[in-house]
Amino acid sequence: MNKIERQNNWTNYWKNNSVDSCRDGIKAKASQLENFWAETAEMIKNNDQVLDLCTGKGDVIQQLISYQLGEDKALAHYTGVDLSDMDSRVIEKKFGSYKDKVRFKYGTHISDLPFEEKTFEFVTSQFGIEYAFNENVIKEICRVMKSKGIARFATHHKESALIKVAKQEIQHIDLLSEKGGFFDCMKSLIPVFAKLRNPANAKKINKDQKAISAREQFNSESQKVITQAEKSSVPDLLQESLSFSRQVFDIAKIKGASAAKDKLISYHNELNLSKERMIDLIDSSLDKVDLEKLDKSFVTYGKKITKKEELKNDGEIVAWGIEIS
Ligand SMILES: C[S@@+](CC[C@H](N)C(=O)[O-])C[C@H]1O[C@@H](n2cnc3c(N)ncnc32)[C@H](O)[C@@H]1O
Repeated sequence: MNKIERQNNWTNYWKNNSVDSCRDGIKAKASQLENFWAETAEMIKNNDQVLDLCTGKGDVIQQLISYQLGEDKALAHYTGVDLSDMDSRVIEKKFGSYKDKVRFKYGTHISDLPFEEKTFEFVTSQFGIEYAFNENVIKEICRVMKSKGIARFATHHKESALIKVAKQEIQHIDLLSEKGGFFDCMKSLIPVFAKLRNPANAKKINKDQKAISAREQFNSESQKVITQAEKSSVPDLLQESLSFSRQVFDIAKIKGASAAKDKLISYHNELNLSKERMIDLIDSSLDKVDLEKLDKSFVTYGKKITKKEELKNDGEIVAWGIEIS
């Protein structure tokens, strides 16, 4: 994905999704990812400057603040940057009475950080920085960090549960989008439901060979989706698509074919964007060899990886926890 495609895709994601964090897939409270951020909060001192890279809607900042408040510490100063285009004032508002301690800079690529040299005591990132790691980015991070500054990143791990889920979801989107598959069959059946706007058509449709065959094909594709959902450990998307088809047919019956087709096209587009993000996620995830390369690059700029651990949740890897100082 190039820079503009990635920017547009994430801007669209944050605008359209109610989910606040990319970590929402990891539900258990006992997650070592939570511990990683709790530990980070403990290291941060009052009035430190903290920079959260690829911040999204500021989930890491929110977590660090809540840990600091829980320990009755005075808050540090937080800055979040992200490539996507969001209104920083809206996100800052989310932080309510602490908003004076928090600022966001959107539309900012992390290879070109708009800050003076040696500004930050801490640099953090959760499931973000790995999308953009290259020499320029590493140089920038080291430039804006104070000499004794520390960076703590939670990144995607090649063997993580999230990667396994992403791979399955991609397969599910491919199944739904196959030529002549579930979405194509939905499209063919929409005009049939649209005719039912006029109840007098019901009898005719029951005898119409084209309508009968469209219904049979749709039922057969639905069955494939049901079978796949039964086999999958992450069936949500498939189940959602099955219930989405019922919504679309209802729209066709009430508002007509064109409104129903628009709804289907926009849903399918969203899934395609989601697939691109998941491919990007898989490509960006890191293994041990990637970490060694990363370490070598940081050494060039006077820093190095001082800690790396596999963060787990219920025994499954969810991320790398990396510390650079
Ligand atoms: C998976 S989300 C993580 C967001 C947030 N850290 C969280 O945990 O909720 C990845 C974020 O990285 C941002 N991103 C990707 N490439 C970037 C880049 N080169 N510079 C800045 N942000 C980038 C995206 O816009 C997106 O908001």
